[in-house]
Amino acid sequence: VNNLYFTGLPGTGKSTLARFIAPRLGLAHVDTDAEIERRVACSVADYWNANGERAFRAVERQVVLDVLADPAPKIVAFGGGALLSSDLRHQVVRSGLVVHLKTPPDLLNSRLEAQARGHALGGKSVRPILAAAEGLRARLAELELARAEFYAESHMTLWTDDEIETLADAVCVKYTQRPLLVPLGPRSYPVHVVSNEPHLPADVLASMGPSSIVLLTDTNVTLARRTSIESLLTTLAIPRTVVTLPAGESHKTTASMQTIWDAALSGEMDRDTVVVGFGGGVVNDMAGFAAATLLRGIRFVSIPTTLLSMVDASVGGKTGVDCTQGKNLIGAFHQPSHVIADVAHLETLPSRELCSGLAELVKTAALFDAALFHCVRKQGAALSRGEGDFAELVRVCLQHKIDVVTRDERETGDRVLLNFGHTVGHALERALNYEGLSHGEAVGLGMLAETKFGESRGWVEAGTAEMIRETLKVCGLPTEFDHALLAKAAPGMRTDKKRSGDCIRLPLVMSVGRSEVRRVTMEDLVSALLSP
Ligand SMILES: NC(=O)c1ccc[n+]([C@@H]2O[C@H](COP(=O)([O-])OP(=O)(O)OC[C@H]3O[C@@H](n4cnc5c(N)ncnc54)[C@H](O)[C@@H]3O)[C@@H](O)[C@H]2O)c1
Repeated sequence: VNNLYFTGLPGTGKSTLARFIAPRLGLAHVDTDAEIERRVACSVADYWNANGERAFRAVERQVVLDVLADPAPKIVAFGGGALLSSDLRHQVVRSGLVVHLKTPPDLLNSRLEAQARGHALGGKSVRPILAAAEGLRARLAELELARAEFYAESHMTLWTDDEIETLADAVCVKYTQRPLLVPLGPRSYPVHVVSNEPHLPADVLASMGPSSIVLLTDTNVTLARRTSIESLLTTLAIPRTVVTLPAGESHKTTASMQTIWDAALSGEMDRDTVVVGFGGGVVNDMAGFAAATLLRGIRFVSIPTTLLSMVDASVGGKTGVDCTQGKNLIGAFHQPSHVIADVAHLETLPSRELCSGLAELVKTAALFDAALFHCVRKQGAALSRGEGDFAELVRVCLQHKIDVVTRDERETGDRVLLNFGHTVGHALERALNYEGLSHGEAVGLGMLAETKFGESRGWVEAGTAEMIRETLKVCGLPTEFDHALLAKAAPGMRTDKKRSGDCIRLPLVMSVGRSEVRRVTMEDLVSALLSP
């Protein structure tokens, strides 16, 4: 479904804009309040006054569920409180573009007062939710505050004190771009998955009104994506600090962080500075950590340029660096304000790095989506040559990641599933000093080893490891184990972040598309992996 939704306080013009845009997009439009009135055969105000808010919300919920169940794309104007329940809101966010309409308080107040006067003469009734002893203006301010977190979970916020044509233009452009949304209340952010839209990063950054930017990239990306970086910097024309680190995981260190902090703080930075990560997962993990720590937290925009960072690393707010004791052991949760994944960047990505990204795609598919898994398995050889609809694959894969992050932002629950293959994978990377295997290659081998372990315990459906092995192989990834390396890596598993005492919460794919977390002892895991 690709619906267009309008939400916002009463009187912000949701129904008017929905009606205006419907013929332009050739879509039907639904007004949930009008639909409720049709179902209960009286006005919203009369139904609310006679039955109370609870009964009204129950009817409203059913109307929203029916809208969601209808596969035909449409434009929907919601009543101001229709999306207060998070489960409903998150289903809505997944099924189309949510536009939050805002009207300056004076204008909104006078519009609703005029509506009340009109009602006295037989016009549209003013919503019961606005009735309050303290007066309309105070009630509107109170509602705005109470609902700020819910309305923040929108793909777009639009001030409505402009010509309706201008508003409609802006909405139609966004609707065709189909951004995804990570709905995390005040930390919500859109994820733009596009194919060759070179102006988008500058447009997005300009819309944030930064005082300056700190752009972090690496030497390879600077060479391969020079035109994109230069065009972004030239278009923005604001003070900037560019930090170019040597490429590679071995530079994801506290020493590199010191370089970034020094450069940023020596430049023209303040609280309105935005950190931009322009590169793969290494660059973006560090850019996010810099943004989390500079001045105790400033805004961050992620522009992933590898497949791996598009399908995984750029979304979810995990940031950090490696240290001698292990990978990603120092870091912070800090969500970006925008993610811009333009698959055009993949044109220059070396084939080995493309395959490395496919490993994270296989991971997500194996965990949550059997159909995606079979699609990657079928198309793996073509994908590893750079042929295929990468924008669509990135979208599908990211939606799974977004669903998990929405449920469990700080990894206290099932977000740990996304670490499938990482206990062994990280240990392998570390044993090779982050130079022998790429992150994706190591995770691929980790998925295989951990699935074989699950099968040996009788937890995992027999044959699952073989399906994962075949899929990794067609995607051009290594599947053979070097047992000497595994033995060298084993001690490293003890510093895994998922360890608690002698045990570890190990994510397992029980059968393709179905996953669970099992508690296992470190000893059990290590000795099973080391047995021939
Ligand atoms: N934060 C998270 O949730 C998360 C999730 C998964 C992985 N990660 C992290 O991501 C990192 C791995 O990311 P990666 O695989 O993107 O590695 P990377 O950032 O090292 O990039 C791989 C290589 O490709 C080069 N490169 C990047 N974009 C290019 C382009 N468009 N054209 C040409 N060359 C390009 C880089 O310079 C580098 O040499 C690891 O550190 C891992 O821990 C983080």
